This record gives sequence, C-alpha cells and structure tokens, in this order.
Amino acid sequence: MKILVIGAGGREHAICQQFLKSPKVNELYCAPGNGGISQIATNVNISVNEVNDFSKLVDFAKENGIDFTFVGPEIPLSLGIVDYFEANDLKIIGPPKDGARLESSKVYSKGFMRKYDIPTAEYSHFSDINDALRFLDKCKKDQKIVVKADGLAAGKGVYVCSGREKAKNAVSQIMNYKILDPAAGKSIIIEEYIDGPELSYLIFTDGISYSIMPASQDHKRINDNDQGPNTGGMGAYAPAPLAIADDLNKKTETIIRKIINGIKAEKINYKGILYVGLIVKDSCPYVLEFNCRLGDPETQAVLPLLDTDLTDVCVAILNKELGTLKIDWRKKFSVSVVLASSGYPEEFETGFEISGLENINDEDTIVFHAGTKFESGKFFTCGGRVLSITSMADNVKSAIDKVYSNVRSVYFKNMHYRRDIAWRALNE
Ligand code: GLY
Repeated sequence: MKILVIGAGGREHAICQQFLKSPKVNELYCAPGNGGISQIATNVNISVNEVNDFSKLVDFAKENGIDFTFVGPEIPLSLGIVDYFEANDLKIIGPPKDGARLESSKVYSKGFMRKYDIPTAEYSHFSDINDALRFLDKCKKDQKIVVKADGLAAGKGVYVCSGREKAKNAVSQIMNYKILDPAAGKSIIIEEYIDGPELSYLIFTDGISYSIMPASQDHKRINDNDQGPNTGGMGAYAPAPLAIADDLNKKTETIIRKIINGIKAEKINYKGILYVGLIVKDSCPYVLEFNCRLGDPETQAVLPLLDTDLTDVCVAILNKELGTLKIDWRKKFSVSVVLASSGYPEEFETGFEISGLENINDEDTIVFHAGTKFESGKFFTCGGRVLSITSMADNVKSAIDKVYSNVRSVYFKNMHYRRDIAWRALNE
C-alpha cells in the first residue's frame, strides 16, 4: 500500500509511525513532514503553505499511485481538501468541508449541540460588537465568562475571563481584529464558565459506526501546576483514570451516539476522526468543543496504544465497514511529554542542535518530532514544540518515571518541558 499523510507535527509523526508498523505499507509519504518524519517516510517537497494548495497534492497522489491519504491538521480539512480529493477520485481519510465546520465554526458547532441535545455550556452568539457588549453589561461584575472567536485561531481564540470588564476587553480584542485573523473574529460566542477537569475523546468514525479510542488528557498551559499561557499542548496521557470513574465512559458514549446521529441527520458524509473535548463537572460531562482531526499531543499518547493495524482501520472507514472491525488497544498506560523551545508560545529562538536522542532505546519509548529539521546527519530545532517523548508501562506511575528518565537524556539549548505531566492520574 502507498499512503500519504498530510501535516508536519508530532501528531503526524505518530500517525506515520503507526502506519509503518503495518506489513501492508510499502511506501509512506508525508507532506510536508519534518526532520524526524524524514527518517521513516519520504517527505514531500512542498512548503507548509502549499499544503493548502490541493492541486499539488492531488498531482502528487496521482503520480505516485497513492492508495489513500490521511489528513492530520484542521486547516486543509476546513478548506475542503477531502471534497477536492474525492472530486479527483482519490481516497482520503477526513471529513468533508461541511463536517469540518464542527471545528472551524464555533457558532455552527454550538448550534449543532443545541439542536441535537448535547450537553454543553449555555451560550449566546454575536456578530455585532455592540450587541455583545450590551449583553455583557447585564452580566454580574465578577462572573467568570468565556469568550470564543467563531473561527480557527490556532488555540488563541478562547478567553476565560474573570469578570465582566475582562470579557468586554476580550470581545473588543477579537471583534476589532486586534489579535486574530479577521475571518476568525467576525462572530463570537459568549458562554457560561464550567469549572472542572477536561477529557479528550478521539473517535474513529465512518459516519455510520464509531469506535472510541482510550480517553486522554492534554495539558494546555506552558508551566507546571497549569500556570502560564495556553499552548497547543505540553503533554498528554492515556487512558485517563478520570474517564473510568463515575461511569464517565458510559455517559460519554451516550453523548457520542447523539453526535454521530446528528451528523447522519445533517447528511454529512463524515469519514475519519472526530475529537470530542469534554469538561467534567459533578461527574457529568459537557462538550467544550469538537475537532475534526486527531489531537496534538493526545495522538502521541493514544496511537502507540493501538494494537490493530491502522491501515485496516482506515480501509474500514473508507468502505464504511467500521462497525464490522474489532479494534484492540494495548493494556498499558502511556505518557507523552512535549519538549519545547523556551519562550513558546510567544517568541523563541531556533536552530539549536538536539543531542542525546541516541540514548533512547527502550522498546516502549518513542520520540516524535514536531519542530525539527535534519541537516548533515544532525537534528536541529525549528519550532516552538520541538519533540514529544512517549513512554508506555503497566501503570501510570511507571510510565511517568520512564518518560522523564528518557526526557532527561535529551538536550537542546533553551529546552523547556513540564515536569508534572499526568499529575491528575496519580491523584485519582
Ligand atoms: N490538544 C488539543 C488539540 O489538538 O486541539
């Protein structure tokens, strides 16, 4: 089989690594890929921006006889890569543009949740700044309020505000386009704040059936104890013990069934991954957000636990036969720690040599590259999130000990990582 993966991050390295385990894969390509991916697959010579020029990718897939393409990030999905490939008779894993709206428009996704009775925070949406500010004037002064940009904002579109004035400031920042891409900030959601731990459920679906992966938890803040600004994610672990407590997996499955039924009712030909981000309050799950692709860094923790051939899962999705496939998971705990460039998610320096990777050689530890490049036989940093290191073990504590002992053997200048990934799992 010849497979093309779209993307350039740690998530795509984990996807490639999983495909590589399959005896059915004889050629693996990644567009554009990264330094680490270049060691296990052929990077397609295309820039990150050109990934959104689908004609080049289609030409590549046709010229190289690609059997199917797997899309990692949300932007090509939101721009309709799946529709474009299918119009060119190419097979591709991912939702079409109308399905990707579940992630690319928060107004659409909240409307979907309301329509299909999916538990979520109470909200209002606005496309006029004065209406939004008037609405906030009626809120209590010290009320915690969440303001969200409608569109994709690379993790920067959500403001958790400690009072009315801060929320008004967030509305102005978003709607006056001071921070975000104008398209992302044209409409906003103002919603009730729900306090509680978050859970990520990644789901394979062919739009008819679905299969839920082990629940995971991301760590969004840059520093230990969940301090500092939000990032793309500084680490993750799976399965999350919280999901097993209080019947949460069962309660969540009821929600997921409603979501899949809603997708069917909307006549969306959804094939690929659905990511349901939840917040748990008083043992009840509420949907925070949908993503239409695998999470990063959750994927680096979850996919290594997959025991079934990923190509079999993809073929079942493409043939709409997912309901007939039994998907197995390793009975292990997995912890993944992100090594970032100091300064991320703001300004940071790059170009530093990465050393010590050769010291990592136990079979239950994997290094996934994100912001790296490979030059003259060496790896160098070239991004904010540089590497993820994932270790698996029979219990969370051993997985934590193993991953941090491996993290300590890697070095690059200005390396920053959290030392408390999976802390919640130890306390539950
Ligand atoms: N880890 C959150 C995300 O992938 O959006």
